[in-house]
Amino acid sequence: MSDCFRLTSPGPLQRPLEGSVDVGGAKNSALKLMAATLLAPGHSEISNVPDILDVHVMAQLLEQLGCTVSVTHPSPEETLRGSGTVAIEVPEDLHPVAPYDLVRRLRASICVLGPLVARCGTARVALPGGDNIGSRGLDMHIRGLEELGAAVRVEHGMVVAEAPGGLTGANLWLDFPSVGATENLVTAAVLAPGRTLVDNVAREPEIVDLCEMLVEMGAQIDGIGSSTLTVEGVERLEPARHTTVGDRIVAGTWTFAVALAGGDVTVDGASVRHFEIAADKLVAAGAQIDQLANGFRVRCDRRLDAFDVVTLPYPGFPTDLQPFAMALAAVARGTSMITENVFEARFMFAQELARLGADLRTDGHHAVVRGIERLSGAPVVAHDIRAGAALVLAGLAAEGTTTVADAHHIDRGYPHFVEVLASLGADIARVPGD
Ligand code: UD1
Repeated sequence: MSDCFRLTSPGPLQRPLEGSVDVGGAKNSALKLMAATLLAPGHSEISNVPDILDVHVMAQLLEQLGCTVSVTHPSPEETLRGSGTVAIEVPEDLHPVAPYDLVRRLRASICVLGPLVARCGTARVALPGGDNIGSRGLDMHIRGLEELGAAVRVEHGMVVAEAPGGLTGANLWLDFPSVGATENLVTAAVLAPGRTLVDNVAREPEIVDLCEMLVEMGAQIDGIGSSTLTVEGVERLEPARHTTVGDRIVAGTWTFAVALAGGDVTVDGASVRHFEIAADKLVAAGAQIDQLANGFRVRCDRRLDAFDVVTLPYPGFPTDLQPFAMALAAVARGTSMITENVFEARFMFAQELARLGADLRTDGHHAVVRGIERLSGAPVVAHDIRAGAALVLAGLAAEGTTTVADAHHIDRGYPHFVEVLASLGADIARVPGD
């Protein structure tokens, strides 16, 4: 039975959060960096990798493919940052089959597809599982690989890609700036002879991080951080030695925590520029955020004003911070409108938030949230990483005790979540589920 997180609060602004938080590397970058090491035989090392289950699942997957992997993390007694190092020994000959029992536990495992086809000319990767936040198609991954010269089919629950003569550079475009498709196509193209131009790519800081690591490995990529990437294929890449970019979603999470509870917290290790639209919304609503050399400081001493949010690919408002915005809107002064454009099922969270007393209504991908003064603690269930964390934070603005079941979802995105929140002064504990 999965643990619960139990949080007790006197209500918003009654027990402000104080102190500092050290944010480690981004989950959504580290997992892709690990997959990309497959592109070069030899010893690669990725540092600032978060201490979360998904990293261990990705390590097991790489071992299944023929690598030797060692994951080292400091103990929470040493630091709550929860970031360590992953060393990966990549063999000359990989076994390009990613089985369902590992892939279903981790959506990001689809990111081995591009590197495997590039290195081996063939790959069989089970269709992924991951969060319960929507259908999460693979059509753009598949069409892009086909345009690079692979024959791709889906059979018996596996994506099977074959390019016996290797891939070749091509001009591609994405219907939508998909993060995963961009990653797979860039990692497939770096070893493909000729020029690949991919238009309408995702521009998330995690994509920039991946491209920068590939360049350090010897890849030739132009346009990093823009909507068009141009890749000039090279014959061989060198092993990687790279530090993962700070986790902007974790940093954003602690920013919303202060907005919900009140307080004064310094966040180190991640840039506020990486979630600027969300930060600007909070400032416009009445919070104070100041950039610092290695992070930022967030302060809040009053009930915030209502605000509207529309989720969009980067640099738009991140869908991964949308549940936190909805939790905050529930106690803001006035009525907020939230539009979810990226993952249709993310509003499952609204039903749980309503259990805490939130006054909201959803219609398709829009939600109208009428702010009330305080929520009231209740038992609720985490359906995915961000919804789970947002329910705990909603508990900061609720009077009484909020118990969030299925907290293993939260552990998947946040190293030492309970300990960090407790270090800021929240009354929170991990308790066994019933
Ligand atoms: C990644 C992140 C996730 C984040 C999301 C958007 C990881 C492990 N996860 O997910 O936390 O919320 O980016 O910032 O990095 N789609 C298709 N066909 C495709 C590919 C995507 O229809 O071939 C759709 C998806 O169903 C979804 C939307 O496009 O509705 C966005 O997906 P995408 O950007 O690919 O997100 P992920 O890489 O899955």
